[in-house]
Amino acid sequence: MAYQRKDLLGIEDLSAEEIQLILDTADSLKEISTRSIKKVPTLRGKTVVTLFYEPSTRTRMSFEIAAKRLSADTVNLTVAASSAVKGETLADTAHNLEAMQPDLLIIRHQASGAPHFLARRLRCGVVNAGDGLHEHPTQALLDLLTVREAKGRLSGLKVAIIGDIAHSRVARSNIRAFTKMGSEVTVAGPATMLPPYLATMGVKMVYSLEEAVRGADVIMMLRLQLERMGQWFFPTLREYSATFGLALRHLALAKEDVIIMHPGPINRGVEISPEVADGPYSVILEQVTNGVAVRMAVLLLHIGGGEKS
Ligand code: CP
Repeated sequence: MAYQRKDLLGIEDLSAEEIQLILDTADSLKEISTRSIKKVPTLRGKTVVTLFYEPSTRTRMSFEIAAKRLSADTVNLTVAASSAVKGETLADTAHNLEAMQPDLLIIRHQASGAPHFLARRLRCGVVNAGDGLHEHPTQALLDLLTVREAKGRLSGLKVAIIGDIAHSRVARSNIRAFTKMGSEVTVAGPATMLPPYLATMGVKMVYSLEEAVRGADVIMMLRLQLERMGQWFFPTLREYSATFGLALRHLALAKEDVIIMHPGPINRGVEISPEVADGPYSVILEQVTNGVAVRMAVLLLHIGGGEKS
């Protein structure tokens, strides 16, 4: 199939075939990062701008590394040192960046819908690197790739997503991604962190970590997003950790070959114990490695061909 998208705004918009194409492309590009010279000329002459209004280590670095591996020029706007602090609007900032003729703008923003707002206004492509509580599509794609590598398939798997679902764009993208690819998704967390709309997303909701991990092929732990909470959603961190923190003893309830995932950054000892995060079932660093491959695929599919509609 041909990939014809100008923008990548969410997993919600992608078909299973498009997801498959991105994963297959990532698979074929992954080998470049293992070479002694980690660079191919495919995107020579293309310019990628990254615009991060929220902090990031993995997403920003891996987009930049991905672009460089494909020989695109990358420019990062440091928002805290930009004219945004003088009050320039997001639209004005983006229009001014577009006037410098980039091929692709990658944006992370605290407001849900900010990438969609820009995509409607800009001629260049827009990629969502995380918008508020809404979506983080490239995280879900790298998570799918990591699971497909470990399990050889995506359909028919039991995937448990556990923790702060309410504040997690990673959860929303992953629920859409895994259900589209035929996995069975269970979400678990304190009742205050399981919003009612989850019932419409084709997932099973439970209120016990033990119940969620029983028989699971994949356990994905989520970071408690304390910075997004205007109030406490549970009595204390200690009680949260005792009830919803993943420890070694829980792994016996899952499948023998269970894999443990976390999008990072980790609150060590809160949502996941160090023994699990660093243990033999963990694929957390494989997720990061696959982030480069998936972002190379996204860049290639978006700006590697001719003009997009
Ligand atoms: N997973 C993720 O988005 O990490 P960063 O916030 O470090 O980019």
